Amino acid sequence: MAVKTLEDLLADGVEGRGVLVRSDLNVPLDDDGNISDPGRIIASVPTLQKLADAGAKVIVTAHLGRPKDGPDPKFSLAPVAAALGEKLGRHVQLAGDVVGTDALARAEGLTDGDVLLLENIRFEPRETSKDDDERLALAKSLVELVGDDGAFVSDGFGVVHRKQASVYDVATLLPHYAGTLVATEVEVLEQLTSSTERPYAVVLGGSKVSDKLAVIENLATKADSIVIGGGMCFTFLAAQGVSVGNSLLQEEMIDTCKKLLEDYGDVIHLPVDIVVAKEFAADSPPSTVSATEIPDGTMGLDIGPESVKRFTALLSNAKTVFWNGPMGVFEFPEFAAGTKGVAEAIIGATAKGAFSVVGGGDSAAAVRQLGLPEDGFSHISTGGGASLEYLEGKTLPGIQIISSASPSS
Ligand code: 3PG
Repeated sequence: MAVKTLEDLLADGVEGRGVLVRSDLNVPLDDDGNISDPGRIIASVPTLQKLADAGAKVIVTAHLGRPKDGPDPKFSLAPVAAALGEKLGRHVQLAGDVVGTDALARAEGLTDGDVLLLENIRFEPRETSKDDDERLALAKSLVELVGDDGAFVSDGFGVVHRKQASVYDVATLLPHYAGTLVATEVEVLEQLTSSTERPYAVVLGGSKVSDKLAVIENLATKADSIVIGGGMCFTFLAAQGVSVGNSLLQEEMIDTCKKLLEDYGDVIHLPVDIVVAKEFAADSPPSTVSATEIPDGTMGLDIGPESVKRFTALLSNAKTVFWNGPMGVFEFPEFAAGTKGVAEAIIGATAKGAFSVVGGGDSAAAVRQLGLPEDGFSHISTGGGASLEYLEGKTLPGIQIISSASPSS
């Protein structure tokens, strides 16, 4: 069945109704606890704005990081509540707990158009429990906050690959709808998988091959080129028999990379030069070496200029591009040129008419932190893991459940 959208909910009428929204407000914080990239907060605003404007009593649930042992001030959503209020242009209350007495009292006190953010849902171990009954019990407590005529809007695209109480189980209990963000993200990813214009180039970076293995296997037969940089390229280089010095290496993945190179060597493209340094530090002096001659005692922290040139040539003809993962340690200015160069190549392809998608997480943060124009890409996803799992062909529990009939219909 077709997923019901926010527009359907607004047409049903929300004035005075409690609406529970699962947003993904999991933003990076710097060492002083300040939000370093508010992208996910900004992306969550349209759905919340529309609901509040329509007079709903909006209750937002979200997570921050991965707290292990219950409430921990380090993972409080307090800075997020303040930033969200600023972006929404209305006060956002923060409950002192998730579904406890404070959340209940505040939920009861809401008037039409109010927005209440519950404390980090992962302060509740039941959120991520593998036990269905435990998760369902938490979902029931969330439902109590919005009352009998409440509704659920799934808008946290970055978590739809998680089978968690606030993502999945709550949708089994309430009439459910896809928020604006989730609807847009799914539409874009559908376009990437169903009507892909060739040449199709995939750019993958980030630290671990294991995180990208399934997507490489899935896309190797669909894409015309898979360009690999970032920490994960060193395991591929090692699989070619190259010595990688102290660079990141997943030894246990070397054989897998060998097999991938045997099977898809014509599709996979590796860097030919690397920017190395002695230390993993912003001020460690960089030098550029051939990818086959990484000196002992150094580590690769970025792809080199010749690699950027070659990757740019591949990307310049592309009609479809998917990019996930930085090419190097872009947070250190001396090691940001590879990521910037490849991003600029994708922007160039987009300007010539290519459909380009940035797959969330670090690459989306890189676009903003490197001062690149966000509108240079066709779409910047808020979901790193979620977009990868979608492209791997996996069923995303949070999408699957809102695609099924609502409990009351
Ligand atoms: C993300 O950061 O990718 C999402 O917010 C999901 O977070 P998680 O990987 O901790 O579930």
